[in-house]
Amino acid sequence: MKIAVLNGSPKGNLSVTMQYILYIQKKFPQHELKILNVAQQIKTLEKDQEKFQEVIEVIKASEGVIWGFPLYVTLVSSQYKHFIELISEKGVEDAFKDKYAALVCTSIHFYDHTAVNYINAISDDLEMRFVGFYSAEMMDLMEEEQRENLVSFAKDFFYTIENKLSTTRRYPPLKLREYKYTPSGLINDKEKIHANGKKISIITDLTDEESNLAKMIKSFQDCFSSNVEIINVNDVDIKGGCLGCCQCAYDNQCIYRDKDGFTEFYNTKVKTPDIIIRALTIKDRYFSSRWKLVLDRSFFNGHVPTIIGRQIGYIISGPLGQIPNLRQIIYGMTELADNNLVDIVTDEYGESRDIDQMLYNLAERVVRLSNSNYISPGTYLAVGGRKIFRDAIYGRMRFVFQADHRYYEEHGLYDFPQDDEQAKKMNDMFIPLINKDEKFRKMFYSRTTTEMVKPLQEIVKNPKK
Ligand SMILES: Cc1cc2nc3c(=O)[nH]c(=O)nc-3n(C[C@H](O)[C@H](O)[C@H](O)COP(=O)(O)O)c2cc1C
Repeated sequence: MKIAVLNGSPKGNLSVTMQYILYIQKKFPQHELKILNVAQQIKTLEKDQEKFQEVIEVIKASEGVIWGFPLYVTLVSSQYKHFIELISEKGVEDAFKDKYAALVCTSIHFYDHTAVNYINAISDDLEMRFVGFYSAEMMDLMEEEQRENLVSFAKDFFYTIENKLSTTRRYPPLKLREYKYTPSGLINDKEKIHANGKKISIITDLTDEESNLAKMIKSFQDCFSSNVEIINVNDVDIKGGCLGCCQCAYDNQCIYRDKDGFTEFYNTKVKTPDIIIRALTIKDRYFSSRWKLVLDRSFFNGHVPTIIGRQIGYIISGPLGQIPNLRQIIYGMTELADNNLVDIVTDEYGESRDIDQMLYNLAERVVRLSNSNYISPGTYLAVGGRKIFRDAIYGRMRFVFQADHRYYEEHGLYDFPQDDEQAKKMNDMFIPLINKDEKFRKMFYSRTTTEMVKPLQEIVKNPKK
């Protein structure tokens, strides 16, 4: 059986993920797994139609497709995202239709689920028959149990194809609303908002000046009495996508730093505003690959937040309400960076006047919350994510990501429970008593509810600043 493997790693054959594919190939010599380095060769594939068509022909001639890729910033790499965009731009969706698909990715399990959801949804949109996903921790292949697991996964994939089994669709097609937003005049009638000296920037991937997004950006700008800077990421000199070389991990210096304008752009434009509005258009199930390029290239900062304590707003054109996966990425990344997500205004429902009212509310609220320095406490999306980073940087990744390690030490981010002196004292005192003395145990557990709330009651009684 012929299987096309779409390699999403910019590292090509030196990809960690591809070792999982090669392992499958070793175990199933009767099948032919053809690896296509589409992310690494994205610039060629974009420009050279013949080369692009060669890839498509391999897919057409295959019984199945494996999306094989590394996690890059909660999704796939910008190069891979670009390849996915080329499928519809070049109108070759038919090559994918009805093909069986599976997904093999590697990562440190930080937001691997959102990347899995994304590729599953893309497969569904292409009307492929999505069988399943295998999301491995980078080094899983070193363990016998995991190797067995991988083989079972592959076996199931091949069995499904051989027996032409039916598969389930998880993501219904997106319903796009054709609505032309036209500023209603409501904003012009309102009092202009004073930014109180706060620097406000709108960062966008806008390409069409006539689009809803362009008009929403303008309306938002019009809410203020002072200047709101617009930064278009299409104007930034970016030579290429993140190569995954990790040379930045030592001292946060990107190998591209003298070759293009990204580092300077990041330090002077991205990091400086007090209030940041991201104005983006949904492209397939995410934003554009250009936007993803900016996020991937920001990885030179490692796993530390570089822009903290800011108010963040989103202005989005497209069906965000139908893509909860994307909403989760937005929430997670904002929380994880210790910023506050004020609101997201979209053009997916309401009339122009409603959109104007939402934009005005957003404008007024970002300033108000910035004045009070409000930062929403993180949910599981941030708390869980931080723990993954903390453990990885303290442990196996430390010798590579030394810049992160220094930051984590200096900023007290190694908050392991074993360092919690108060918890240690309580455990040492109570565990022996509870375990040895039945009478004490009964009394203890009968009082947990009242005792747990006591310190909080004290604060409520004597409110401290
Ligand atoms: C720019 C960049 C972004 C990354 N983002 C994530 C991420 O969001 N979540 C995660 O778990 N791992 C992330 N990783 C780690 C890679 O997914 C992991 O090292 C993967 O195994 C690399 O596979 P490859 O060698 O096939 O490219 C990232 C690595 C790089 C270089």
